[in-house]
Amino acid sequence: TARPRVFSGIQPTADSFHLGNYLGAVRHWVALQDSHDAFYCVVDQHAITAGHDPKVLRQRSRLAAAQLLAVGLDPERCTLFVQSQVPEHAQLAWVLGCITGFGEASRMTQFKDKSARQGNERASIGLFTYPILQAADILLYQANAVPVGEDQRQHLELSRDLAQRFNKLFGRTFTVPAPHIVKDTAKITDLQDPTAKMSKSSSSPGGIVDLLDDPARSAKKIRSAVTDTGREVVFDAETKPGIANLLTIYSALSGRSIDDLVAAYDGRGYGDLKKDLGEVVRDFVGPIQERTRSHLADPAQLDKLLVAGAEKARQVAVETLGVVYDRVGF
Ligand code: ADP
Ligand code: NA
Repeated sequence: TARPRVFSGIQPTADSFHLGNYLGAVRHWVALQDSHDAFYCVVDQHAITAGHDPKVLRQRSRLAAAQLLAVGLDPERCTLFVQSQVPEHAQLAWVLGCITGFGEASRMTQFKDKSARQGNERASIGLFTYPILQAADILLYQANAVPVGEDQRQHLELSRDLAQRFNKLFGRTFTVPAPHIVKDTAKITDLQDPTAKMSKSSSSPGGIVDLLDDPARSAKKIRSAVTDTGREVVFDAETKPGIANLLTIYSALSGRSIDDLVAAYDGRGYGDLKKDLGEVVRDFVGPIQERTRSHLADPAQLDKLLVAGAEKARQVAVETLGVVYDRVGF
């Protein structure tokens, strides 16, 4: 009665997760802990592909882990670890890189977008091979399922192709991972530009609500959120993307349905909705912030927990890499 295995990773590239990261990804990780054998990874090796400060990175890896614990990941029910502590990720990535075509890697749209932003000549080889490391992350654990947002679909497709190609070339070795599509995956948009996604790399500070933001500051951002000039609170992502986004966040954080909220705000204006959502956010992030702080207050304990997670992860990683090395003739 083995539970299906799930793998997911998140980069420690900011001091706080934002509501998009939480509602679009991490919230589902928490839910999958019991139905799946879940491996969750703070992917610090992915976080050095575009330049970084070592001290900041180390602190952000701890911050990411502390927040993941604070939102409900339980090391007794999942395997939570930091990528660089499991050397098999990089070792497998090398092997996978050797069966990836240059043209194939060149077609990854995220690299095209990100390298264009940096100026193509300056983009690192690490940024280019990032999806190969990501494939190694997933295949190392023989994951059956990978929760993915729309932005990661192409990378998962590459992971599937590489698994199938390796199996064909060298004999059945890898489980071919399937996308785990969460039904009501909330796409959270930028508060200042409700047609764009809330993103640490492209949103202005006013467009983002961070989990670790001071709730008064978040409430102010929500009050200033761009909406349309109407006054009726209805859910219509096409014509009222700003209001639809606020309703999505409200519903996800409060557990109330969108219909229920629309009925409750019937005849009241956007101002009431925004004010109440500020309070919903405050009540939601309060306990998360407190638990995050308490994990960070004991870095030795936090590091110990992550070392234990890496040991647990390595039990699987070492076994997979052993088979891979054997198959390729090492
Ligand atoms: P960012 O876009 O801020 O750089 P990442 O790319 O690090 O965020 O995303 C981490 C995870 O959070 C991914 O699984 C991604 O799909 C999810 N995610 C990021 N932004 C959003 C958003 N605005 N809405 C829903 N999910 C999101
Ligand atoms: Na992204």
